[in-house]
Amino acid sequence: MGIFSVNNNELYIDGISARELIQKFGSPLYVYSEKIIKEKFYKLKKSITYKNTNILYAMKANSNFQILKMLAREGCGIDAVSIEEIEIALKAGFKPEKILFTGINLSIEDMKRAVKKGVMLNLGSLMQLKFYGEYFPNTKVSIRINPDFGSGHHDHVVTGGRSSKFGIFISKDDRKYVEEINRICKKYNITIAGIHAHIGSGIRDEEKFIKLSEIILDIAKEFNDLEFIDIGGGIGIPYRDNEEEFNIEKFGNDITERMNNFSKEYGKNIKLMLEPGRYIVAEAGILLTTVYDIKETPLYKFVGVDSGFNLLIRPLAYGSFHKIINASNVEDDKEEVVVAGYICESGDVFTRNEEGIEKRAISKIDIGNILAIMNAGAYGFAMSSNYNSRPKPAEVMVYEGKVKLIRRRETIRDLLATQK
Ligand code: LLP
Repeated sequence: MGIFSVNNNELYIDGISARELIQKFGSPLYVYSEKIIKEKFYKLKKSITYKNTNILYAMKANSNFQILKMLAREGCGIDAVSIEEIEIALKAGFKPEKILFTGINLSIEDMKRAVKKGVMLNLGSLMQLKFYGEYFPNTKVSIRINPDFGSGHHDHVVTGGRSSKFGIFISKDDRKYVEEINRICKKYNITIAGIHAHIGSGIRDEEKFIKLSEIILDIAKEFNDLEFIDIGGGIGIPYRDNEEEFNIEKFGNDITERMNNFSKEYGKNIKLMLEPGRYIVAEAGILLTTVYDIKETPLYKFVGVDSGFNLLIRPLAYGSFHKIINASNVEDDKEEVVVAGYICESGDVFTRNEEGIEKRAISKIDIGNILAIMNAGAYGFAMSSNYNSRPKPAEVMVYEGKVKLIRRRETIRDLLATQK
C-alpha cells in the first residue's frame, strides 16, 4: 500500500516522518492511516456485487471513536459483542438497525438494554434463546450457529468446530437442535430473522468462506422467515512478506453467485452481512516505539524499547509475527536482533513465532532510534492494558501529510481515577 515512503533514510507514513510524529505526540505512539482504512473498506465492499449486502465492522478490532465515526459516515454497520460496544457505536453515529449484537453469556439485563436501544440480538445458545423468548416474546432475533468446522491463524481464535464454545451446534448432517429452536420460537412467538456463523479469525483462504456460506445457506432453508445471513468476520491479512493475500475478488464473486441463487430459491431477497475487523484496520496501524537499551547474551542481541505486551499482546498471545522497521535508519545493513519490551516478564518480546523467541533481521539499530511495529491496527490498542501501571499511549490519524490526535495519552491521573 502506497502510504509508506523513505526519505533521507527515515520512514514516512502518508507524508509524515515517524520522527516528527514522536516529537509531536511522544513515544510510544499508535499511528493510523485514514487512507488505508477507507481503501480496505471499499475494496471489500466493491468485491461483493450482491445487491443487498451490509458490512458490519467488528469494532472489537479497534474501537477508536474517530475510526468508528469515519466508518459510520461511509455507511458501514457494526458487529458488537458487549453492551458497551453498542453504546459507543450509537454515539459514533451508527443507527441501531445497523448493529448486530453477538453477545456471549448475556445477562437478562444486557438483553434488556440492547432491546431497548432497538438493536437486534444474535444468540449462540438454546438456553439464551429461551431466556430471550421469556422476556421478549413476539419479537425477532438472530441465531449464531456452530457449523462443525472452524479456521484461524491460531487455536485461540478458531470459533467453530466441536471444541468451540460458540454457537448452537447445527452441522450439515446433525440438525437435532433445529427442532428445539423451532419449539422455543413457537412457544414465545419469536421469529428467527437471521442466521449467523463466525468460524474464526485470520483466515486467508477464501475457500473456507465459500464452504461456510454453502453450509449456512443449506441450514437457512430450515427457517422460513429469514431476513439476513451473516457469514461473520475472519478475513486475514498477510503479516509476513511471503504470505499470500486473501483473494478478495474470488471471494466476492463466489459469495455473490451463491447469494443470488439462494435468494431465487428462497423466494426473497435475503440480506448478506459480514463482520470484518482485522481486514479493515490491521494494515492501517503502526506502533511506534523508541529504543532505550541494547545488550547481548551469548544467544541474542536484545534491543529494548519503550513498549511491551501491554500495548501489543499478539506476539505473546499467539506467537504472531509483526514486521518491524527501523524508522530512523531504514536502508542500512541488517543485523539479527531480538526486540524486547519494558514489561517485567521474560515473555515480553515482540520478535516471536509460534515456538517462541526468534531473531529478526532489522537494519542497524542505535539508541534513540524509532522502531515501527507494522500491521498493528487490529487487536493492538484494543487489547492493550495498564499492566505494570503503564498509561496507554496516544493514538493519531494521518492523512496526506496531516495528522490529528484521536486519543490523548493516559496519565497517572487516569490510572488513579477509579480507585479509592
Ligand atoms: N465477528 C465475531 C462474532 C467475532 O468474534 C470476531 C472476532 C469478528 C467478527 C471479527 O474477526 P476478524 O475479521 O477481525 O478476524 N485477538 C485476535 C483475534 C480475535 C478475534 C475475535 N473475534 C488476534 O489478534 O488475532
